[in-house]
Amino acid sequence: MAFTLSSKASGSAVLRAATAKSPAPAVIRAGVRCGAKARRNLVVSNVAAPAKEQWHVNIHGPGPNSDRADLPQLISKEQVQALEAELDQGASIAALRRFNDALRNIPADRWESVLRPVFNELCFNLESFNPAFTSCLLMVQRTIGVSDYVRRDLALKNLIQPLAGEYGMHNGQQQLKTHRELFSDFFTSLFGYDLQQLLADSPAPTSAQALFAQMSRDIMSGGNQSEDPLEQASYALGYNLAIEYLADYEKTWMLDSFRALDERIFAGLGKKIDWIFLEVHAEGEAEHAAIGHNAVLNLVSSQHAPVLRRAMADHDRDFAAFYNAVAAMLEEGSNRSA
Ligand SMILES: [Fe+2]
Repeated sequence: MAFTLSSKASGSAVLRAATAKSPAPAVIRAGVRCGAKARRNLVVSNVAAPAKEQWHVNIHGPGPNSDRADLPQLISKEQVQALEAELDQGASIAALRRFNDALRNIPADRWESVLRPVFNELCFNLESFNPAFTSCLLMVQRTIGVSDYVRRDLALKNLIQPLAGEYGMHNGQQQLKTHRELFSDFFTSLFGYDLQQLLADSPAPTSAQALFAQMSRDIMSGGNQSEDPLEQASYALGYNLAIEYLADYEKTWMLDSFRALDERIFAGLGKKIDWIFLEVHAEGEAEHAAIGHNAVLNLVSSQHAPVLRRAMADHDRDFAAFYNAVAAMLEEGSNRSA
């Protein structure tokens, strides 16, 4: 049965970030919550298991020192937005719709056996973005001596935040739980036992491993098509942008689907789902997409627009393959006779 998915929020965040102009490098507080009340919650959340994790990111656009006559012209925000719009029509969005449709319709009497292999894949897949982010960052760092000092630094000043966030580190805060801990908490609240047990009992997550192998190969080699460090960095920045842009849809819809399942199945079983993992990602990916967008604006030249497009298309293709595979797992598990 078709269902309505909530609308994507990152467009406004991206636009807000990309259009800001100031004499100094634009620093935009795209805070999830920045008010005094939220700050009090933050202090509490540093010392105890938080009911809800909250933080802000800083988004850095190109500054006055980013443009010099001797440097190649930077790509425009309009060019990047046009490429992002292509992702809206891409294979990954279709695969994510298929996955969420199947997820919402799993049978109530066999939800555990249907979801178990999918969580085995998701566990690997979600963690695999950490080395992917690190690789993207490294490809920019490696342009030392080749790219402009200020441009490179501002791109990295954006990229470090989502990566650090995976390990519970956020601006102005003590270190919180890592996203691996949050995922583990979510899993245990749903299944009633440790994530370690799932990992020990499960086969290799072959679909997630295949995606990781392709992500690593592509990010580290400019899509296997370039030896030029700057072109490889442009590719990595496009790849990173595609990851973050699609993750906004992915996590928002996943939260919606699990909330629907909670209403239909889990609440009736007396389960108290730990929503923090899904909530921080559903809320935070819009800011991450804005960060990925601005990292591109800081370093990628307009002549590298085709490189950016190729990177985004490569991730769209491989991410779609992963989500089609896990959607098929849900569909087959749901259709199998009990
Ligand atoms: Fe995460």
